[in-house]
Amino acid sequence: MLRTHHCAALRAENVGQTVTLCGWVHSRRDHGGVLFVDLRDREGVTQVVFNPQLATAAAEAARGLRAEFVIRVEGEVVRRSPETVNAKLPTGEIEVAVKALAILNRSEVPPFPLDEAISNEDLRLEYRYLDLRRAEMFRNLAVRHRVVKAVRDYFDSEGFLEVETPILAKSTPEGARDFLVPSRLNPGRFYALPQAPQQFKQLLMVAGLERYFQIAKCFRDEDLRADRQPEFTQVDVEVSFLERDDIIGWTEGVLRAMFKAGLGVEVPTPFPRMSYREAMDRFGSDKPDTRFGMELTDAGDIFRASGFKVFRETLDKGGVVKAINAKGFACVTTGQIERLTELAKRHGAKGLAFIKVEGGEWKSPIVKFFSEAEKKGLSERLGIEEGDLVLFGADKWSAVCEVLGRIRLEIAAMQKLTEGSRALNFLWVLDFPLLDFSVEENKWNAVHHPFTRPKAEDVPMLDKGEYGAVRAEAYDVVLNGVEIGGGSLRIHEPDLQAKMFGILGVGPEQQEAMFGHIIKALGFGAPPHGGIALGLDRAVMLICGAESIRDVMAFPKNNRGQDLMCDAPSAVDAKQLKEIYIRTVGGDAAS
Ligand code: AMO
Ligand code: AMP
Repeated sequence: MLRTHHCAALRAENVGQTVTLCGWVHSRRDHGGVLFVDLRDREGVTQVVFNPQLATAAAEAARGLRAEFVIRVEGEVVRRSPETVNAKLPTGEIEVAVKALAILNRSEVPPFPLDEAISNEDLRLEYRYLDLRRAEMFRNLAVRHRVVKAVRDYFDSEGFLEVETPILAKSTPEGARDFLVPSRLNPGRFYALPQAPQQFKQLLMVAGLERYFQIAKCFRDEDLRADRQPEFTQVDVEVSFLERDDIIGWTEGVLRAMFKAGLGVEVPTPFPRMSYREAMDRFGSDKPDTRFGMELTDAGDIFRASGFKVFRETLDKGGVVKAINAKGFACVTTGQIERLTELAKRHGAKGLAFIKVEGGEWKSPIVKFFSEAEKKGLSERLGIEEGDLVLFGADKWSAVCEVLGRIRLEIAAMQKLTEGSRALNFLWVLDFPLLDFSVEENKWNAVHHPFTRPKAEDVPMLDKGEYGAVRAEAYDVVLNGVEIGGGSLRIHEPDLQAKMFGILGVGPEQQEAMFGHIIKALGFGAPPHGGIALGLDRAVMLICGAESIRDVMAFPKNNRGQDLMCDAPSAVDAKQLKEIYIRTVGGDAAS
């Protein structure tokens, strides 16, 4: 190596040694002829000192150093005087008195400082190689590496095999749009990049692999946000001859290993479990954040005969009235109430009735319609006290849950309820509905994916066409309100699979064209099987306490799906397009 130590290695014990360090000029300070440089490498920072009286040539050359120059210094480790010790740095007790300097490379002036948080994310992404020099980003990548290693070690110890599956694949129906790749050798035909290795892992079970996992790249052309990228990584798992609780056990096991490796904490298992129905009913979400209460509480029985028409009529029509109590939030501003009401209306609510409890009084446009008994009943049900803000939803059950669930999260953000919390609230959401009716498309869609098994006791309802009531053998694992994984037991019988496609509106011909391979394979003795996929980026984001999965990916896309560093996607040569039989229409044509 060009060096004897890295930049976080030297301590008081090294005083007197001659050492060589390499790294980047993090900062420089000129103290009247004596120049102090913070020298940085991926491990940390060491102060190196250029004193003209000790080494004239080196000190002279050091005058030309600028931020991010790459240098190599040789010198003696010396103890700092007590008043100059830097307690914040592990190397803060010493410095290196430089005898020789080599400038290994110069640097342009960086477009942003590397020692502070930068708000312009596009600039960070354009110069990602500089952004990654920042200590926080290096730490995130290092944590990700340790987490991935823990995943591999864990599954290896449990007898799983890691198998790679194709990237040039066929469209899989995971619910997003596919990225397509034209085939030069097969004119007019396309591969699809896998949205997940779902079909391959099931085919591996037919192949008798029994225990499979993969750190798998997945590609989905969907609208992006903080926890969604077009290209992301799953910890993908599939097992044969299992029951649901087996996969739950392995998932808890691997999450324990991941959080131990990445964060050094022992995650308690088993995780709490909740049905989809209960999650929606209590939290208004299929990925409840249970770090705070503010649960959705039914108040229908209280208002059954109410003078407040909105509530009574909703109940008469078979709807529900639910409320949440935002403790201590009577101080909500008019602007905030307006924002909450808009949010409720965006999610289909007709209004957002509320009560502020201030100065011993219930302040609200609607309490004048409430009887004393209703007030008392409500007060007891929701534990209403001075300073509280109570909000109501009145509509169909699913609509009220959805709206109040969103309001609950928004208020938690306004009240900063989870700020600084170190809680890790894992939980399982079980028994999702199998099918969901899309009014837009006028058809039933699979909630998870079409290979998911209906619960055995609900199959009669499937036969009777009561699709909405059928539950799936599907499960999601949630951490602090983020869905970090989802999976299911699969259909292994070809006739049940064909029936499922039929319900989803995929006719026999289409089935043959799109899924013929899977139905055929199931006919060759497919074992009962099931699995799960964890969102690796999301898990690492939560382990690192990062705001976005972009912060735990080396080279992510921005929220328009662009790689700003390489400028992708980009126009391509007309010749390249011709070779793959593509003509562009509109947009940014070939150059
Ligand atoms: P699912 O579609 O639920 O299941 O995906 C599994 C997990 O992957 C993560 N995830 C994402 N992470 C980042 N960016 C995205 N665009 C993105 N989309 C999903 C989530 C999610 O929980 N084949 C099934 C799994 C199975 O049934 O075994 C599947 O892909 O954390
Ligand atoms: P209105 O009688 O329409 O003036 O409504 C009185 C209050 O009830 C207002 O604060 C509305 O926002 C609220 N409201 C109206 N409809 C609903 C509803 N379905 N659920 C909750 N609040 C509602």
